[in-house]
Amino acid sequence: MAKVAILGYGTVGSGVYEVLKKNKDVITGRLGDEIIVKYVLDLREFDSDPVQEVLVHDMEMILNDAEVSIVCETMGGEHPAYEYTKRALEAGKSVCTSNKELVEKHGPELIQLAKAHNCSYLFEASVGGGIPIIRPLRTSLAQEDILSITGILNGTTNYILTKMETEGLAFETVLARAQEKGYAEKNPDADILGLDACRKISILTSLAYGKNVDFADIMTEGITAITSVDFAYAKKMGATIKLFAKSVKKGDKYYALVAPFVVKPENPLYAVKGVFNAILVNANMGGETMYYGKGAGKLATASAVVADVIDCARHTGKHLHIKWEDEKLEISPIDGAVRRFFVRVPMADKAQIENVFGEVELFQDVADGECGFVTEEMTEVSYREKAAKFGNILSMIRVD
Ligand code: HSE
Repeated sequence: MAKVAILGYGTVGSGVYEVLKKNKDVITGRLGDEIIVKYVLDLREFDSDPVQEVLVHDMEMILNDAEVSIVCETMGGEHPAYEYTKRALEAGKSVCTSNKELVEKHGPELIQLAKAHNCSYLFEASVGGGIPIIRPLRTSLAQEDILSITGILNGTTNYILTKMETEGLAFETVLARAQEKGYAEKNPDADILGLDACRKISILTSLAYGKNVDFADIMTEGITAITSVDFAYAKKMGATIKLFAKSVKKGDKYYALVAPFVVKPENPLYAVKGVFNAILVNANMGGETMYYGKGAGKLATASAVVADVIDCARHTGKHLHIKWEDEKLEISPIDGAVRRFFVRVPMADKAQIENVFGEVELFQDVADGECGFVTEEMTEVSYREKAAKFGNILSMIRVD
């Protein structure tokens, strides 16, 4: 029997409690053993909730109870989650978390600490909510050299872009509606500026290559400049626009960026709509695999935490190895990355444009007073030079 403590009875913590209760028989069957919630730590009281029976307000009770072998850290935020996690690991208790901030900031240190104390630090729920992606990277793809990871890793921005596409609405209108409905945060900056997706791709890239990616090294562009006119052009191209978080390995160099991309239906990520997330992994032996599902939400996220709890319960007294060293993974500037670019400029003729950009596919009847074109493949730095030479660029979106 494995005894568990849940830190925080908020959205995810209460979800973990619910998953462990509702799916008790399924879990017991698959694990061949029972998982019992011995404590739930929260400052609040929950009088009419059965959780009250196991509710405690003092972390020391959990740390001093040798029966508790697994702790679910579902508090969120850096403090005191960081201190509680360290103390639990030092006490030999495995920690399973949904806390992306903590994982991104302290992942290598906490994994090392778990190793030193013969327990595990698992964080499936920290990226892509309920989507299994961290375990596949650690197990099913352990034999693979990962060539690239491309993710739609933020549900809020994918929801906004989907609505802009399907209803022809402006970014600000969709954002305001999403906020009214509680789909977007009151302060949506982390989502719409691409920072949330950046943190998530930095975790996935660290895991894929075993060294630590500093998210500040990842060029990040959000979706605030995307307009309904961009979608009108995308429609004309038979494409859509998605916020991609990408990392690529080319030889011994690593590139990463978060930016909106024009995406054609041939890309499996084209079909990912609304709040859903997906991650496309390209590996050198097995080729492409894709992971799709709910990137957030109470039960989806909690389900991923419980998957980690079961993994820990299966490996009591053992450390589950995760290669994520403190050594920095050098992310190269994206200057040399080769792709096509969709560019909007004030109305110009094809010869004028091709004189600077080379051969282009031109769209002149989408919006008044301007035209758009897609370049041939060129490097980022070459695009920048040509754009500076041409001048007066209205906007640019990369083409996947
Ligand atoms: N704000 C995030 C999103 C939630 O929209 O995807 C999950 O990290």
